[in-house]
Order: sequence, then C-alpha cells, then structure tokens
Amino acid sequence: MQQIYLDNASTTFPKPQAVADAVYQYITHAGTNISRGTCATTTEDLVFATREQLCRFFGGEDSKNVVFTKNITESLNIIIKGLLHSGDHVLVTAMEHNAVMRPLQQIGTELTTDNAPTDAITFSRIPCDADGALRLDALPQLVRPNTKAIIMTHASNVCGTLQPLAAIGSFCQKHNLKFIVDSAQSAGVVPINMQEMHIDALAFTGHKGLLAPQGIGGFVLLESMIDEITPLIVGGTGSLSHTEHPPRFMPDKFEAGTLNLPGIAGLHASLSWLQQQGIDKIRTHELTLTQQFLDGLQQSEAQNLLRIVGKRNCRERIGVVSISTDITDIAELAFILADRYAIATRVGLHCAPNAHKTLETYPTGTLRFSFGWHNTAEEVNIALQALKEVLAHGL
Ligand SMILES: Cc1ncc(COP(=O)(O)O)c(C=O)c1O
Repeated sequence: MQQIYLDNASTTFPKPQAVADAVYQYITHAGTNISRGTCATTTEDLVFATREQLCRFFGGEDSKNVVFTKNITESLNIIIKGLLHSGDHVLVTAMEHNAVMRPLQQIGTELTTDNAPTDAITFSRIPCDADGALRLDALPQLVRPNTKAIIMTHASNVCGTLQPLAAIGSFCQKHNLKFIVDSAQSAGVVPINMQEMHIDALAFTGHKGLLAPQGIGGFVLLESMIDEITPLIVGGTGSLSHTEHPPRFMPDKFEAGTLNLPGIAGLHASLSWLQQQGIDKIRTHELTLTQQFLDGLQQSEAQNLLRIVGKRNCRERIGVVSISTDITDIAELAFILADRYAIATRVGLHCAPNAHKTLETYPTGTLRFSFGWHNTAEEVNIALQALKEVLAHGL
C-alpha cells in the first residue's frame, strides 16, 4: 500500500527532487569547508547566496545578519538566552511550542498574581481564544515597565491558527518592545516580511515548509538586535584566528564551528524551488486540501464522532488540523490509520502542552493531520473515509 503522508507539520516529505540533487552535488563535487582552506570559494559563494536568498525571502535588512543554526530550537535558545537578563519580563502566547517555553522556563519563571516581581527573568502569557487565536484586546494590560519583548509563534503546530503578526509588530513598535517570531510552521507557506511587520528577530527551521533537509535552520536579526544578544556558543570561526576572543561582527558572532554545508546546499535549492513555484500557489494548494478535509470532518462532527479542534474554515490558518474524539483512544486511532490505511499522522501533545490547555485538549492531546505541497485531493478523501470507517464501525 502506498503511504499517505499527512505529517508535514513534523517535517515535510517528500522534498523537491532539486533539494536531494543539490545535497548530492555538494557532497560529490564541492565538499569544501568555508573560510578554512584554499579551495573554499565555491562553497563560500553558495553560503553567501543562501544568506541573500533568506534575507530577501524574510524581508531582512542585510544578508550578513542571517545566521545558520541546526534548527529553530537552537535559534530560539540563542535569542532567548542571549537577550534576557535578570529583571527582564517578556510576553509569550498561550499557544507556544516548547522550543520557546523550555528555554524560558530554564532561565525564568512565570509571573502570576501571587509572586511579586523580583530580579528574576519573568514571563506572562497572552491569552488566546478557544480556537487558539491571540486576544489582541488583552495585550495592553500585560505590558509592564520592565517588559522587553514579545516572543511568539506565527502559526500553531497544534491547530494551525495563524496569529496577526503585523498587528502585534505595530504594538511592539509603539511600546518599544522587541518582537521575536517562531516561524517554524509558517515559513515557506505564509509570506513574512520582517521590516513591514516590525519583527526584530525571526527564527526559522529548514525542514518544514522551507522544504530543506533536517539539521539546517537559523535566524535573521535586524541591525538593532545584534549588540543586544550575547552568543551562546563561541569557538573557531575561521576569522580573527590571532585572538582567543570571539569576533563581534556578523555572521561570525553567532556561527562558531563548521556549518551544516550539505544542509545549506539543500536549503539553497529548496528556496529557489519555492521562489519558482511561488508560495501563494503552495499556500492555495494546501488550504484547498485543508478546506476539503475540514468540510468532510464537519459531517463526522455533526454525527458526534469527533471534534475539530480550532477553526472550522481556512481564514487565518495553515494546513494543520487537529481532532479529538470520545469514541476511542486517539493513539490507537492513529495506529490503526497507519497500520490499516498507511496514513501517517501525529498524535499526542505535539510539544505544546499549554496550547492544549487553551484548546481544552489537555492532557490527552489530539490527532493531527498536516498537509503539504505534495498531497492530493484523493489522499484527503481516503483519510476522511478511513476516519469515518474506524469511528463509525469501531476499531
Ligand atoms: C511552532 C514550532 N516551533 C518550534 C518547533 C521546533 O522545530 P525544530 O525541531 O526544527 O527545532 C516546532 C516543531 O515542530 C514547531 O512546530
């Protein structure tokens, strides 16, 4: 049986052929390091070109402020731990992934009504409604004199809800807050422009909507952020080798150690592919499938077989749909979809426990279906039919 891959929110699959070809080409025919050898120029050109692509893609100011990491988790750790100091307060949403929450919990503590402000790093959560949408009306009361930044995800990896980045960016600009965005689920599917949306630091991961291999990610900073962040990792950069002190210039300030160059080759190819296709075309395709799926699910919901978690239409969302059901254990349901129908999904809390508290699906979690550029209407129909069969007729 041919696998139906509906787990693109975990990682997109398949990647365009051009991506695999580019990784192969790099390993077989280029293969050099950068800034560290006499034959490095071809690879240096590739890395420079990829920074330029990313800077244009995300509306950054200068390609030297594009930093490569291994994934968005590393990017967010660098930004959060390098930016915040004792006494700082930040705002996050009630829908964050652990890539934001765990670094924050590691260095800070949640501000509640019963713990007085201290010289610790503190954070508060911006409430979201039952569909996961941030409540803009709740923002002004949460800002304190020591609030430094809003750190938040653009799109929920649990229910697909998109947050209004431009409105929040304007709010940040007005209140002199840094705006840090986790674009894990939206980059490559929803247009993002840092300068237009007043985003000071944009973290990205390569292996989801950007269609690159696993192990390559990064972040883009506005110039005004560079001196604000202390690097988490320092070491050899191939530059300023006469000194044991790390360089302060970009991108070397944040890029110690050898980069994932095959990953950058793949990312370069995937960004070119995305540009050729146009992300609007990909987004339209994914949302058409998502609406088809939501329409089919609503019939089952009307029969009390399941609950759609999050928005029931495609306004302000991406192609990530979660369901819950009282009829059976969702882990078992996911197993049957995989085993009997070869449908790949993801089940559980998806590394975002508080999002489930917001959506009232904690602690069981949800069964998540996520669509990508390669999925078809026929695959969506098969998934709907499989769900109906299992839920209506038992396991
Ligand atoms: C919203 C969000 N943020 C961060 C991450 C972490 O991504 P990575 O594992 O590539 O660091 C994910 C991955 O699922 C995510 O969905």
